[in-house]
Amino acid sequence: MQESIKSKISGVASFLPDRVVTNYDLEKIMDTTHDWIVQRTGIVERRWVEGTKVTTSDLAYEASLRALADAKIDKSAVDMILLATLSPDHEFPGTACFLQAKLGLSEIPAIDIRQQCSGFIYALSIGDLFIKSGRYKNILVVGSELQSRGLDKSTEGRDVTVLFGDGAGAVVLSRATEGDHSNILSTHIHADGQFAKELWVPAPGLALGDDARITEGHMKEKLHYPRMNGKAVYVHAVKRMIEGLHECCDHNQLNMNDVDLFLFHQANLRIVEGIVDRLKLPPEKVFNTIERFANTTAATLPIGMDYAIKENRLKRGMLVALSTFGSGFTWGSALLRY
Ligand code: COA
Repeated sequence: MQESIKSKISGVASFLPDRVVTNYDLEKIMDTTHDWIVQRTGIVERRWVEGTKVTTSDLAYEASLRALADAKIDKSAVDMILLATLSPDHEFPGTACFLQAKLGLSEIPAIDIRQQCSGFIYALSIGDLFIKSGRYKNILVVGSELQSRGLDKSTEGRDVTVLFGDGAGAVVLSRATEGDHSNILSTHIHADGQFAKELWVPAPGLALGDDARITEGHMKEKLHYPRMNGKAVYVHAVKRMIEGLHECCDHNQLNMNDVDLFLFHQANLRIVEGIVDRLKLPPEKVFNTIERFANTTAATLPIGMDYAIKENRLKRGMLVALSTFGSGFTWGSALLRY
C-alpha cells in the first residue's frame, strides 16, 4: 500500500426512472394509506420503471455515462467497474459484466458487490484500496437497483413494498493528484451474519432443500419476495449508523462538528431522525432524499450525493460523512473531502 496515494471522487451522477409512484397510487393496489406510509417512513413517492424491459444494468449504464461526463474522462480510462446491487439482472454472471458490455468496455475487471444497502460503501471502500495500492487510476463505482419488479405488490407484502424505489447512482473514483484538496479520508465496513435472515430474499437459492434454484413451491410460499423483521432492522440501523459515524470521525481525529454534510442511507426517515436526535446533529447538515425516491438500497448514497450537489448543498471542499446499514446485517461509513 502506498500511503501517499489517495483517491478522490472526480465525478458524480444519478439516473432515476421518469415514472413517479405516489403513496396514493399504492393505495389503489394494496391495503395501505398515504398517511400510514408518511407517518411511519417519511416516504411520499418513489420512482418505479415502466414496463418489464428495463434492467438494473440499463439504469447503471445511464448513471455511469453521466458520472464519466461529470468527471470529464473518457470511458476508455476506466480501469475497473464495481457495481453494487441486490437486484441483479440474472443469478450469474454479475450485473457488472452486463454493464461493462453496455459501456463497450472489455478486459477490465467488473465486480458485483452484493451487500444490499451497504453495497455502495463496500464498493467505495474496495475501490479506494485499489487506488491507494497504486494499481488503478480510475474506477467506476455504481449502485443500481430495480426493486419494483421484485416486490410483492399485494397487501401481504405491503410492509416491504412501500419502502423501495428504483434508481441508480455512480461515482468515478480517481487517483488524487498532488495538491488535490479532495480525497477519501477513510472507509470502514462491517457485517454480522447472525442476522442474515432478518431481511432477505430466500429464493432463488440452493439452500432451500430442493433440487432447483426456484420451484413452484418457492413461488407459492412467496420465497422470491423480500422478508423483513422491520423492528429489528430499525433498532440495529440506528445503533450501527451512529457507530459508523463515530468510527470515521475518531479514525481521522475529527469531531462530528467538523463535518459539513451528513448523508445517511435512506431506509426510513424515522431512522435518520433517531440518529440526528441522539447525536444532536444540526438538521441543516443532513441531506435526505427518501421523501421523493424512497429506499433505493445500494443506489441511495450516490443518488443523495448527486442531488445534494444539484441542490447546492454539497460543494467542493466540504467534509462529508456517509453512513449506511443494510441486510446482512451490514454497515459502514466513509469520510471524504469532496
Ligand atoms: N400500510 C398500512 N399498514 C401497514 C403497512 C402498510 N404499508 N405495513 C404494515 N402495516 C401494519 C401492520 O400489518 C401492523 O398492523 P397490525 O397492528 O394490525 O398487526 C401495523 O401496520 C404495525 O406494523 P409494524 O410492523 O409494527 O409497524 P412499524 O411501526 O414497525 O413500522 C416499518 C413498520 C417497516 C415502517 C418499520 O418497522 C421500519 O421502517 N423498519 C425498518 C425497515 C427498513 O428500514 N428496511 C430497509 C432496511 S435497509
